[in-house]
Amino acid sequence: MHYGADYNPEQWPEEIWSDDVARMREAGVTMVSLGIFSWSRIQPREGAFDFGWLDRVIDLLHEGGIAVDLATATASPPPWATAQYPEMLPQDEAGATYWPGSRQQFAPSSPVYRRLAGELVTALAERYANHPGVVMWHVNNEYGCHLDADYSDAARDAFRRWLADRYGSIEALNEAWGTYFWSQRYQSFDEVFPPRKAPYSRNPGQELDFRRFTSDMLLECYLMERELIRAAGATQPITTNFMGAFKPANYAEWAEHMDVISDDAYPDPNDPESFRAAAFQRDLVRSLKPEVPWILMEQSTNALNWRPANAPKAPGQMAALSAQAIGRGADGILFFQWRQSRAGSEKFHSAMLPHAGTETRTWREAVALGADLAALPELPAGAATRDARVALVFDWENWWAVEASDHPQNSLDYLAVIQRWYRALHRRHVQVDIVPASRVGEGYALAIAPLLYLLRETDATALTSFVEDGGHLLAGPFTDVVDEIDRFRDGGFATQLGPLCGIRIEDFGALVAPSAPAGEPGEREATFAGDEGLAGVGTLLAEEVHVVADDTRIEASFTAGRRTGDPALTVRETGAGSARYLATIPDEAGTQAVVDRLLAATGVEPVAAGLPDHVEAARRGRLLTLVNHGGPAASVDVSGTDAVTGERVDRVELAAVDWAMVLTD
Ligand code: GAL
Repeated sequence: MHYGADYNPEQWPEEIWSDDVARMREAGVTMVSLGIFSWSRIQPREGAFDFGWLDRVIDLLHEGGIAVDLATATASPPPWATAQYPEMLPQDEAGATYWPGSRQQFAPSSPVYRRLAGELVTALAERYANHPGVVMWHVNNEYGCHLDADYSDAARDAFRRWLADRYGSIEALNEAWGTYFWSQRYQSFDEVFPPRKAPYSRNPGQELDFRRFTSDMLLECYLMERELIRAAGATQPITTNFMGAFKPANYAEWAEHMDVISDDAYPDPNDPESFRAAAFQRDLVRSLKPEVPWILMEQSTNALNWRPANAPKAPGQMAALSAQAIGRGADGILFFQWRQSRAGSEKFHSAMLPHAGTETRTWREAVALGADLAALPELPAGAATRDARVALVFDWENWWAVEASDHPQNSLDYLAVIQRWYRALHRRHVQVDIVPASRVGEGYALAIAPLLYLLRETDATALTSFVEDGGHLLAGPFTDVVDEIDRFRDGGFATQLGPLCGIRIEDFGALVAPSAPAGEPGEREATFAGDEGLAGVGTLLAEEVHVVADDTRIEASFTAGRRTGDPALTVRETGAGSARYLATIPDEAGTQAVVDRLLAATGVEPVAAGLPDHVEAARRGRLLTLVNHGGPAASVDVSGTDAVTGERVDRVELAAVDWAMVLTD
């Protein structure tokens, strides 16, 4: 179990470094991420490297028993680089340049950026490949974090090459993008641009491919660095820090290239429900690559600086969120950052060692957590215990496509809908993996696939086989509408899953969004009801669904609005499993009602019985983690060994913000 933080020693006089190491030992720190923003310190000008200070700090840490996750420092090019090569600066869709003075001022597809970054990485890797203190490589930092996309000339040139590679001929691109529409037909790849600012709606195929391209360019930067590190002979694991469900980067594809998944998470203490979003994020990153460990690479000890109001964490909350991460598979807990900066835009951001020193709650809590983590025994292999029986289907390319413009309903928020389903399962203490449709066959009993608008043939086959083999599927609404290039398939909608569910979709039935101003005319809600208390309020869409198979039953019908009496939820027992179709997006209570119905119908159990609603529970093999995120004190009957104290327990008492880990019998 790693414990530590980003360490930025170049912000401090060298005299302080040995005190840092001593304090780190006091806090139980085992690893620091070093040099993340050190490019201008390591390389003061082109061709000149200054490694003396880095040698000294790595040696000092190593002597102190603190391992180094060495960063490649490429996330913030130095001023000399951008002054000399302004063509490496990124631009927005209107051609405005993102200038230096902050960070991430690089165009990912820029050949100059890549050359300079490559030279730096090679120099670093050759120097430290065999240093015994360096245990991991931390490539760049949060790729894409501040810049969703780059539209510069470097991007234009690279986009043309990427498209030529993908389509082979301009005819194939024209066909895919449907360019006879609005006279958009291209004669050559040289006529194609990134989707820069345009008078009106842009071609959806172009936009979707530009999203893919953007994710691929960032990934290419990572892969370039990874190859250079390996070429220098380094054998340590290599990672780059993810940001959970981050729209611009398709982590489901990136994960393949990570030796360790690492993730940064900053739940908002002002939001009493943010622990559920945090749980979602942990489950997502664990699910990306279950066969390797994942590390919480960054979280905060206390307040941030970048939200409108940066509330402090409640006493105990930092440890509770750390326990949550471990319970959900993490093998390391690190913070941004070790010592609070005294200058720069993050000077108000909390750290392990606060500006106000060690007479602080933050420091005491950091030390206490370090001691608890040090006491933990070897835990069941983090990510690989495969405890979840429920798959929540989540797909990045679909995210890009389903939120594109000019749809029947233009207020869809894919992540918000996915997280609402997640919360309903979380409230019932059900363990969930968050996976693409291609992975539902990995031993799950129940799969939930809302808003799976872009449905590849292979994924439709995977979902169908899942049901045939005994799985229970809930699909819809606005699912199976287009292929992977955002074009309708022949034969209407739900052409692949419709036959499985025994339904046909005639109309998507958009409703006025709940967020629309009061007084906006039109239907806003479509209530639905079935038997045994299955009822809720549908929002955004109330689809016109026709039952077409004799063995499809209507489990709930719309009870108000233009679809009154029509199917809202259908079920068809087929193969060895069942396929449900839901024709609307239920509100929070409605989603809970549907989830309760699914859990009852499929026999999926909570990870532990008899838990109070507000206590979170996660299973990691034998390890049961219980977290109270701020509800009333609770006691839970559970037999086993307390993982921190090693004592036998039959019952766990949890204060208002508190956690426990029990190795169950
Ligand atoms: C992260 C970033 C860190 C630091 C932190 C502050 O996005 O990787 O360098 O800026 O946020 O919360």
